[in-house]
Amino acid sequence: MRMYDIIKKKRDGGELSTEEIKFFIGGVTDGSIPDYQTAALLMAIYFRGMSVRETCDLTFAVRDSGERLDFSAIGGIRADKHSTGGVGDKTSLVVAPIVASLGVKVAKMSGRGLGHTGGTVDKLESIDGFRTTLSEEEFIAQVNRVGLAIVGQSRQFAPADKKLYAIRDVTATVDSMPLIAASIMGKKLAADDDCIVLDVKTGSGSFMKSAEASKELARLMVDIGKSAGKKMVALITNMDRPLGNAIGNSLEVIEAVETLQGRGPKDLTEVCLTLASYMLSLAGKGAPAACRALAAQAIADGSALAKLRETVAAQGGNAALIDDPAGFARAKYSHSVKSGKSGYIARADTEAYGLASLLLGAGRNTAEDSVDPSAGILLKKKTGDFVQAGEELAVLCSNDPSAFAAAEKTLLGATDFSDARPAEEPLVYDVVT
Ligand code: URA
Repeated sequence: MRMYDIIKKKRDGGELSTEEIKFFIGGVTDGSIPDYQTAALLMAIYFRGMSVRETCDLTFAVRDSGERLDFSAIGGIRADKHSTGGVGDKTSLVVAPIVASLGVKVAKMSGRGLGHTGGTVDKLESIDGFRTTLSEEEFIAQVNRVGLAIVGQSRQFAPADKKLYAIRDVTATVDSMPLIAASIMGKKLAADDDCIVLDVKTGSGSFMKSAEASKELARLMVDIGKSAGKKMVALITNMDRPLGNAIGNSLEVIEAVETLQGRGPKDLTEVCLTLASYMLSLAGKGAPAACRALAAQAIADGSALAKLRETVAAQGGNAALIDDPAGFARAKYSHSVKSGKSGYIARADTEAYGLASLLLGAGRNTAEDSVDPSAGILLKKKTGDFVQAGEELAVLCSNDPSAFAAAEKTLLGATDFSDARPAEEPLVYDVVT
């Protein structure tokens, strides 16, 4: 079999066989296929798509590219959540402690930032000392002891996805339905959870821009998960505006802590409570409405925040930051972005907001780049808010002041105003079971 022929077949709109897909993923994993051929096939898949059968084969090949985790030593029901990626999406940092504080085990494997979106591992690494790499024994022992552990993917775990993820990130091939489905579900199936809640983002800040495409992706992933014996739910949530007010790694950790303290932004709190309620419900804690009340109580009585503090301490992080986020390293420079117009914010191109944050140093331009944990954006106004000309729209934070001009231009260019207040959009569009 030759990679050249596989690329040509997909380029010309053909359907790849199970063997061809296994050959591709095998070669990505053992390094025998060079990155330029991988990138070429990814681009062909991006344009030509994949059938459901090809997507399932790709998912299972990604799952089998490394070690399958065995969580049987974890006592109790294990639940996980995974987002398709958004801007300001720090829900894992809020939802995982809520769910763990209510007795459901959360053995979480998270990713890094991808394209214009952030990643939980980058966010956690902004906490001084936090170890996102644990041995399997440490990981399982912590989940048994604390109820929650969050790590990045180890080299042995779905290694094909790690490679593909990094190449997609820098070749404009992230927003492809089969590639997203295989990436997410390949990892989810290699882990050993009983229940999985998917947060499928839809709108300008997500990889799927339309509600129809998001629903199709959700259906595909739910079906793949169920066929592998998992309890699955997917929520379709709004990513036409950043979630919460903070974009950027440490800024988002601080906002997650504020949300666990019961003083988070309304939109973030709402989406977190909904995700938590479905995780708890799948794990057998009751109907979603009753589970939502449990989740709200875990915030109100401080038990979810205590669980985050315990997790940070267990993974070597400076837990004092959870009680006093003022201790997080701050970017050396900040810049206030003022509105040139008066009116309601009618629309924000949320992907552009993510890119503005990337320009400030919060994300990567190449796979080798490191991120600046303190860089990002604090939004002062969002879609639906009225703004006077000259009023502050956002504060940009960076250690590189030369980045401010481009980030400001991107942000202002991505914000549309109108005289009339725009209609309010739902935060959760649909639930796919
Ligand atoms: N999250 C993933 O893990 N993979 C994707 O492709 C997109 C979001």
